[in-house]
Amino acid sequence: MKIAMVGSGYVGLVSGACFADFGHDVVCIDKDQSKIDRLHDGIMPIYEPGLAELVGGNVKAGRLTFTTSLAEGIKGADAIFIAVGTPSRRGDGHADLSFVYAVAKEIGENLANDAVVVTKSTVPVGTGDEVERILKDSGTSHTFSVVSNPEFLREGAAIDDFKRPDRIVIGAEDDFGREIMREVYRPLYLNESPILFTGRRTSELIKYAANAFLATKITFINEMADLCEKVGANVQDVSRGIGMDNRIGPKFLNAGPGYGGSCFPKDTLALLKTAEDYDSPTRIVEAVVQVNESRKRAMGRKVLDALGGADAARGKKVAMLGLTFKPNTDDMRDSPAIAVSQALTDAGVEVAAYDPEGMEQAKPLMPEVTMVDDPYKAIEGADAVTIVTEWDAFRALDFDRIKDLAKEPVLVDLRNIYRAKEMREKGFYYTSIGHGETGQGDRRKGDRRRN
Ligand code: UDX
Repeated sequence: MKIAMVGSGYVGLVSGACFADFGHDVVCIDKDQSKIDRLHDGIMPIYEPGLAELVGGNVKAGRLTFTTSLAEGIKGADAIFIAVGTPSRRGDGHADLSFVYAVAKEIGENLANDAVVVTKSTVPVGTGDEVERILKDSGTSHTFSVVSNPEFLREGAAIDDFKRPDRIVIGAEDDFGREIMREVYRPLYLNESPILFTGRRTSELIKYAANAFLATKITFINEMADLCEKVGANVQDVSRGIGMDNRIGPKFLNAGPGYGGSCFPKDTLALLKTAEDYDSPTRIVEAVVQVNESRKRAMGRKVLDALGGADAARGKKVAMLGLTFKPNTDDMRDSPAIAVSQALTDAGVEVAAYDPEGMEQAKPLMPEVTMVDDPYKAIEGADAVTIVTEWDAFRALDFDRIKDLAKEPVLVDLRNIYRAKEMREKGFYYTSIGHGETGQGDRRKGDRRRN
């Protein structure tokens, strides 16, 4: 099989490299000359565990090549994937499809053989119909079929998600599309990965429905966490207690500072927009978006409370550990850390931050924050330390050293990495998410014991 992947960003590059690893002949295409040059030199445009090795190995084996020329890259391809960005359009939250449509037009103008054109980018319902219309309008004489094949890749675990998927969703309207896609995914088919064949519009909606549901699950447990703090309950046990019910399942029930990233915030907004366009309100998703937005800001207030309240916080110093929206990525898009640091600097707090991979991307997003290259440097002279992202590097911190370096032994753990009892024994004022059993304590009242 020959596969062309148009767009060598996160999704395109991971998918292209994995297809090559299955034994297909893959060309990754991108307009960005410097990105292609760097890929030729083995330099990855993103941080993703295992990707450099996977790309390198398949380039060496001659199965994976890169080009800036779409016309060259799609020549002879059985399947042409569109994996370009669909960012939120400024103002209305609608997915910006201009890149997808521009690529569809270029494919139509350069198609040199019969091929299946596959949208891998996350696109609203009906986009496949429009891509089909654009291809028809290009006047191509070749037979083509437009298929939807959404990605379900988690950053940091993308290669594993691609190779061992819970399911593959293929939305096709004809046999040509279905047959080629079956061949493309044959290695996984043999692996017994479930493949769902459905209609194109249904497939497009499945992607949004999946992400909106996961965002709902997270938001639900986050609200339960708030309630736990009020009623004196433990949200981690609530998660376990409900997650053991097979109908609910244990995953995506970790309470935290709110979801971020390149998908959930953008896709929930795009789903709302589709619902509005079709006059079919999705009120649950509306609430999820609102609750998550206000939660990120509320996390900033939680840190201020640990400093003794907004008034007392002015002029104090906070060490932020972790900036990316989750560990094992350098992605800062919609990271809760942005809202937390904003709330702190707005209140006149000085913030020093450390993140293992995200600091380059974080700098322009939080210009008032001082970035340092070691967690303990951030902690020096701090009145409070807050863990915003659960990187492994923060799971076994040296608390004796922290006590020596920090001005006050205060830890605000927004990812529930540590246990309140142990932290208290170490002499810390410790506050986390959704632990009300022992009371969160109130720094404004000078309460350091009941935490
Ligand atoms: C997500 C989807 O999981 C993936 O299938 C999709 O196609 C792309 O979007 P990703 O954005 O990489 O992947 O990250 P994910 O692991 O899903 O986490 C998203 C956000 O939710 C993060 O900010 C994470 O910290 C948060 N989260 C996740 C929680 O707060 N609690 C959880 O239990 C799980």
